[in-house]
Amino acid sequence: MSEGFLGTAAPLAADVVLLLEIGMGVGLLIGAWLARRKRFRQHAWCQSAIVLLNLAVILVAMTPSFRSQVLPRIPAKLGRPYFALATVHAGLGTITELAGLYILLCAGTRLLPEKLRLTQYKAWMRGVLVFWWLVLLLGFATYVRWYVPSWFANQRGFDSGRR
Ligand code: HEM
Repeated sequence: MSEGFLGTAAPLAADVVLLLEIGMGVGLLIGAWLARRKRFRQHAWCQSAIVLLNLAVILVAMTPSFRSQVLPRIPAKLGRPYFALATVHAGLGTITELAGLYILLCAGTRLLPEKLRLTQYKAWMRGVLVFWWLVLLLGFATYVRWYVPSWFANQRGFDSGRR
């Protein structure tokens, strides 16, 4: 595995994902600002591109990591922050991404039947934005717990290599 570039113990892929995700989180805020300025076409492009890019990052990087590093230790090790953080993050992340895709399907396509389409766009978009940032912070916390051991150096059990 190649080394990352952020000076932590993370592999390259994790550093790339971290920066991409921070970029996407900021991008969604810019997209929300575009909507407030009534630039709805740019808003739609911006948010759709981010939701689809995030889907790719989830499928290519985060899901495989979750399946190999976390899933085999659930539920036995769920009491430990190392696995608990990643699990809550992955659960909320899945819901948030699905909600983002649902908005995109309703707003940008006619694929869904009329009765399954959204009427409360604003509330859904705001909700996804808030959850997205919560998931981003949990992702950051996961990164720190996994790859920045010095932040946890004083915690009992860490030095003995316990996850
Ligand atoms: C809105 C959706 C999501 C956002 C904003 C997000 C954000 C992040 C960020 C910033 C990191 C830290 C970088 C890293 O360690 O690679 C991370 C790590 C991680 N995420 Fe997500 N994530 C999302 C969805 C998901 C989903 C759906 C899953 C699982 C199915 C998941 C599982 C993980 C795992 C296992 C890690 C640690 C990866 C590793 O370092 O090997 N995430 N996420």
